[in-house]
Amino acid sequence: MVVNVTKICCIGAGYVGGPTCAVIALKCPQIQVTIVDLNKARIDAWNSPDFQLPIYEPGLEDVVRKARGRNLFFSTDVDKAIQEADLIFVSVNTPTKKAGVGAGFAADLNYVELATRQIARVANSSKIVVEKSTVPCRTAESMRTILEANSKPNVRFDILSNPEFLAEGTAINDLFAPDRVLIGSLQSAEGKAACAALTNVYANWVPKERILNVGLWSSELSKLAANAMLAQRISSINALSAICEATGANIDEVANAVGYDSRVGPKFLKASVGFGGSCFQKDILNLVYLSESLHLPEVAAYWRQVVDMNEYQKRRFSQTVVDTLFNTITGKRIAVLGFAFKADTGDTRESAAITLIKNFHSERALINVYDPKVEHAQIWQDLTEVVPGSTAESLKKTITISPSALEACKNVEAVIIATEWSEFKTIDWQKVYDGMNKPAFVFDGRLLVDAEKLRKIGFKVTTIGRGERL
Ligand SMILES: NC(=O)c1ccc[n+]([C@@H]2O[C@H](COP(=O)([O-])OP(=O)(O)OC[C@H]3O[C@@H](n4cnc5c(N)ncnc54)[C@H](O)[C@@H]3O)[C@@H](O)[C@H]2O)c1
Repeated sequence: MVVNVTKICCIGAGYVGGPTCAVIALKCPQIQVTIVDLNKARIDAWNSPDFQLPIYEPGLEDVVRKARGRNLFFSTDVDKAIQEADLIFVSVNTPTKKAGVGAGFAADLNYVELATRQIARVANSSKIVVEKSTVPCRTAESMRTILEANSKPNVRFDILSNPEFLAEGTAINDLFAPDRVLIGSLQSAEGKAACAALTNVYANWVPKERILNVGLWSSELSKLAANAMLAQRISSINALSAICEATGANIDEVANAVGYDSRVGPKFLKASVGFGGSCFQKDILNLVYLSESLHLPEVAAYWRQVVDMNEYQKRRFSQTVVDTLFNTITGKRIAVLGFAFKADTGDTRESAAITLIKNFHSERALINVYDPKVEHAQIWQDLTEVVPGSTAESLKKTITISPSALEACKNVEAVIIATEWSEFKTIDWQKVYDGMNKPAFVFDGRLLVDAEKLRKIGFKVTTIGRGERL
């Protein structure tokens, strides 16, 4: 029998759970959606009267304004939301393990397991449990084992895998018009019925032909595979950017020419200082770990190289800055524009800016940082994590957070563009130049600015993947 879903609970009010279930609430006014989290500050922010939401995402506030209080609720009462729901999304974090077996590679499934155990403990009616978090292949099987071993009489659980493909910065558009919605289920009659129930939820706004029904393990692996292939394109273009710099070719021209081939396509071919974000590195390392566990060392080494290339790109860029500034940046003041891992998000997880600042700091440079969306406390937290033995207070001796891009660039020797915020394209570069020490250097890590225009002003410009040598 296909359940008619009327109440949804989402465990985890983060970058995925929040936007995804807010959009479900908007598009399905007949369904009550409750998003729960253990983190009270996060829930308070989702509920804030002036809509100071805990994450920045274009279009999100509008969605929450329309649905919150109508059929969308945010709460810390996890048990109640579980008990009331017919369908539960598990959308908790799955970071890379920091200790124990698989440390540095495998996904830490502790949060998934705890959430699963909580569902088993408190549920007193049957539930469809949907794995939304990105997990290694066959995690759904472990969740099913935990649920079945701990369920009460007459309570049955059906497990689905429904990985999320949204990209931060465009999450709302991605959710409104997804390329596809992937639902994995057991191929039993019950599994197919559960799959149909979730399909009916998405069918409120997603065309049926874009809702793909597959086996559980295919669904889990497809998410890792999609991220690995996206990151691979970036590492491939970044590898070519190094060849461009050494030969005088231009990476934008190469990417454009390659992307015109309809078999390759134009997207995700932008060279940069390297990819960041909470997912790419974590999910590839997960795939590496999975391959090793399956005794496939060649496969593991193949995917590992995508991450290695990304580290190389960040190192190479930092080294170019030092080399160009006459082989030393000790005591020199540098502006780093952008701290988020990409534009249109306040998320800093695995941001290339963190690695760059860490490298410049170890060279004893003085650094001004500016980002339009990232909270100052987040910047200090990220930097203290990567600089061994540091505190925010000790870092403040050499690192300053500036209130604007113009302010950050005053009296510096070099400006580094680390995030592709569009406001960096339109800042008054003449004013920046006037306020800088000379020679005034710009290092564009995002192929963002018009290098020729800046050169005409007087800047010495270094761009990733361009052969011009200074
Ligand atoms: N961020 C992305 O762009 C993205 C895209 C696709 C998939 N994913 C995947 O989605 C998952 C979630 O990612 P995220 O970026 O939303 O993470 P996040 O850290 O922003 O959010 C996870 C939330 O879950 C909460 N939580 C953890 N355990 C809980 C429990 N037992 N009960 C209640 N709340 C609990 C945490 O407090 C946190 O607020 C990850 O597996 C990630 O790989 C992320």
